[in-house]
Amino acid sequence: MSLSVENLRIAYRSRSGDVCAVDDVSFTVADGEIMGLAGESGSGKSTLGNSLVYLENRMKQLGGRVELDGKELPITDFRGMRAYRMAEVSLVPQYAMNALNPTRRIGKITSDLLRSHGVRANGVLEEMKRRIRLVGLDEDVLGKYSFELSGGMRQRVTIILSTLLNPSLLVADEVTSALDVSTQRAVGEMLIEFRDRGFVKSLIAITHDLSILAQIADTIMIMYAGRLAEKASTDTIINAPLHPYTQMLLASLPEVGVRHDQTTLTGIPGRPPSLASPPAGCRFRDRCPFARERCATSPPFEEVKPGHHVACWKVSEGWAA
Ligand SMILES: Nc1ncnc2c1ncn2[C@@H]1O[C@H](COP(=O)(O)OP(=O)(O)OP(=O)(O)O)[C@@H](O)[C@H]1O
Ligand code: SF4
Ligand SMILES: [Mg+2]
Repeated sequence: MSLSVENLRIAYRSRSGDVCAVDDVSFTVADGEIMGLAGESGSGKSTLGNSLVYLENRMKQLGGRVELDGKELPITDFRGMRAYRMAEVSLVPQYAMNALNPTRRIGKITSDLLRSHGVRANGVLEEMKRRIRLVGLDEDVLGKYSFELSGGMRQRVTIILSTLLNPSLLVADEVTSALDVSTQRAVGEMLIEFRDRGFVKSLIAITHDLSILAQIADTIMIMYAGRLAEKASTDTIINAPLHPYTQMLLASLPEVGVRHDQTTLTGIPGRPPSLASPPAGCRFRDRCPFARERCATSPPFEEVKPGHHVACWKVSEGWAA
């Protein structure tokens, strides 16, 4: 499996005009790769993840293309995408674990979902039970209502459901948020195990929590105000980031092992620009300590070292710090 996204632009229709939440985004995800997608709230992470699987009515594609295994995904064709959803590309939407229908048992939710994708539940029931046991749950969860399950149990169930047909790509949006730290770790390990067992070939794990990505991701991509700032191996992003935003984002995190109440988070002064009327040039310009005249022009998202992409003039033109 390989995902290739080229110059993708996705906007929300609004009364005051289009709000372009994903603006000229290009990247690839390789076979077997777990790519973490991080960035602060409102940077467009969910919009990007959703657009690959489930482009809602209020969203529209302004440009670009998405290819899976060299074949273009018809992302604007809601019906056409039915042939791909769940079987090829699958999504655990943000807040999914709270959206499970409370009036239906998990088993019924599963069979309804499968039927809506033209799959008979009986054919995959044994496999579902096997995977439920594999993640440490009891198969009697199938007879329970969602409100009878803990957050961690619900999250495991939604991930099992979304990967039951062994999709090439899973987009998992904030699946570890709202869980306690040890459950976060267990759900993270489950994602790695599902990839290793081939239940899903590649993954985009969306979160604003870089510490969970340090645990599970092979690569990390950082978004800022609808654009890509940086993508590299997890080790490079954590230990040798090049984009000033990534550097400041990491500097604002407590060190591993340091308790939050023992340290002060630096934070990044200022706010991201409005996506309804973004300024020209680099979108981080107002907050960047290195900004120069040059930054009034948009920096390209370029490969500056093998496998390391950055959108910053300081990096691509080699300015001294
Ligand atoms: N329904 C909508 N109508 C108009 N604009 C929207 C709508 N939903 C989102 N947006 C815009 O798209 C931007 C990106 O939203 P998105 O939900 O993709 O961000 P995110 O990075 O997933 O944030 P979070 O970390 O809070 O989940 C927002 O800043 C907002 O301006
Ligand atoms: S392009 Fe300029 S403003 Fe943008 S991050 Fe780089 S140095 Fe800062
Ligand atoms: Mg989101």
